[in-house]
Amino acid sequence: MSSPRWLRRTGTPRLEYGADYNPEQWPRSTWDDDIQAMRAAGVTIVSLAIFSWARLEPVEGEYNFGWLDEVMDLLHAGGIAVDLATATASPPPWLTAKHPEILPVDVHGATIWPGGRQHWRPTSPVFREHALRLVRIMAERYRDHPALTAWHISNELGCHNIYDYSDDAAAAFRTWLRARYGDLDALNAAWGTAFWSQHYSDWAQILPPRQAATHPNPTQQLDFKRFSSDALKDYLCAERDLLRELTPEVPITTNFMVMGEMKPMNYADWAAEVDFVSNDHYVQLGMGPRAQDELSFSANLTGHIAGGRPWFLMEHSTSAVNWQPINVPKKPGELARDSLTHVAHGADAVCFFQWRQSRAGAEKYHSAMLPHAGTDSGVYRSVARLGETLRRLAPIAGTAQTPARAAILFDWTSWWTSEQDSHPTDRLRYRQEALDWYSAFLGLGVRADVVPVGADFSGYDVVVAPVLHVVPAALAERLESYVTGGGHLVTTYFSGVVDEHDHVWLGGYPGPLRDLLGIRIEEFAPLGDDERAELDNGLAGTLWTDGITVTGTDVEVLASYKGGAPAITRRTAGAGSAAYVSTRLGPDGLAPVLRDLLDRAGLDSELPAELRGRVELAVRGDFWFLINRTAEPVELTGLAGEVLHGTPGLLEPRGVAVLRRPS
Ligand code: GAL
Repeated sequence: MSSPRWLRRTGTPRLEYGADYNPEQWPRSTWDDDIQAMRAAGVTIVSLAIFSWARLEPVEGEYNFGWLDEVMDLLHAGGIAVDLATATASPPPWLTAKHPEILPVDVHGATIWPGGRQHWRPTSPVFREHALRLVRIMAERYRDHPALTAWHISNELGCHNIYDYSDDAAAAFRTWLRARYGDLDALNAAWGTAFWSQHYSDWAQILPPRQAATHPNPTQQLDFKRFSSDALKDYLCAERDLLRELTPEVPITTNFMVMGEMKPMNYADWAAEVDFVSNDHYVQLGMGPRAQDELSFSANLTGHIAGGRPWFLMEHSTSAVNWQPINVPKKPGELARDSLTHVAHGADAVCFFQWRQSRAGAEKYHSAMLPHAGTDSGVYRSVARLGETLRRLAPIAGTAQTPARAAILFDWTSWWTSEQDSHPTDRLRYRQEALDWYSAFLGLGVRADVVPVGADFSGYDVVVAPVLHVVPAALAERLESYVTGGGHLVTTYFSGVVDEHDHVWLGGYPGPLRDLLGIRIEEFAPLGDDERAELDNGLAGTLWTDGITVTGTDVEVLASYKGGAPAITRRTAGAGSAAYVSTRLGPDGLAPVLRDLLDRAGLDSELPAELRGRVELAVRGDFWFLINRTAEPVELTGLAGEVLHGTPGLLEPRGVAVLRRPS
């Protein structure tokens, strides 16, 4: 396993620690104090100039780099590395005033005006020309600066501007479609345009799915989602290519947002374009104790998007954010626990938004490493303690995540497609179902990796594919050979229903998985909001049921609906098996079902029995991370190893212990 490229520039392997740093929001007199307080807190790296375009180029063609030169020099003198942004995230007022044609257009045709940030069309040639000019100037100016450690392209590409319905987008969409389909016949067939008189006779007739009278064409919607993700990836590559040409030695990243319902960017498909994967994660509101599961799920998925290699946590929060309806501070212990959970899943850097809490602007109530209260504050003290912890954990840097024996497949195309409109129910939530399975694994104390569907999953003993809605023929074959090769596949309702064009597989659901599962479904039977489907094992399902007929020979019905229809089935195929769960059981309902399926596959927890469910385990080589999932102390018994972090024998409430296990 080679180290991520950013480590080469920083010498001895270490866990990086830092934040976005926005000194341009502050008088010069604060900068020296900043650097002193950073050093005292153990900060090793900052991301600089993310939103600085208007400061660096206040008037077209007139540059003001003096302040940035000075900050770079001060940071370097202070021993702090710089992840330097290309500064293109938010266009300056002179650019949008001169070229309003770069402003995005929403689905209703309304212009997205300046006033916030990221108000640019991903496909605008005018924006790209101006942005790349700035990238070139930044690269030429700072290429030899000793503080420059990595390039940070733009910022959270697509956070606000992913879906643009402008004429630029329409033109680029047509070009993308020509490349995908070659000719209009193929496009008409893929989009099913025989339906509702939608046949196209000229490319110029094709538009993004702008506000329509009723349900827009589903394949047009799906292709627009694919195109929009690709369009931003293309923009990312344009900045990257220029940087690679000018500074081939400097590694390049951009901050992904693998978190919550942030679904438009297919990061599994973007990851190969950067030198190292970075992620931003914010704890989701309203999830109660499941919020910690969601954090772990996102970190785990990020690690597998990064191909199991260490990755960079570019942003999270020290305490409250400002953008949820109610923004509550973190409880004691949460700051360190959240950070170390990311490290447990392969992060080799822990960074925050931002270093110094703003006085003005939209994010002045967003927490930071250095809060309004200053260094004499609980947050800063926790920040400094975490810096010390990360220093002690340096030996972990560069170690790969140790693969689990079970995996949950994650598929952006199924996420996009299964939640489109005019479906059997609009209540289905793809990521929630995947997360429910992940929580069930955590509840049993069994490690599971969350892996993109395109990854090689053949080495896992158990693979869970929740709502794997889109199953092209090639994927059906991969799943089949996984099972015939001895793997244990588990899938759920609304899986295997359509092909890559969102066309239904005929002959009964779940199309290409029917024979593998040994079942056939004629009709879906979703449930109303107040309905529950009772099962004969005492569980109750919500959201969905299927009318299943068992068609295969080696199929066992593991649970039935009241009335006798099969609800959960499992077909054995040689040494492998294929199981189907036809309703939503939620994490608690899934736990006994999963326990049974894992028992049959011969897969057990690596944790002592008394820790299972209360403690999350994540493994990086010899290092075991034990994360308290409860707000109570947990006694750590039956685990040998040197304690790198934590109280020997005890997990504090919301605490984390790191053990170096005897190899
Ligand atoms: C991110 C963004 C940061 C800051 C942060 C606040 O989306 O990259 O600039 O806005 O959220 O949580």
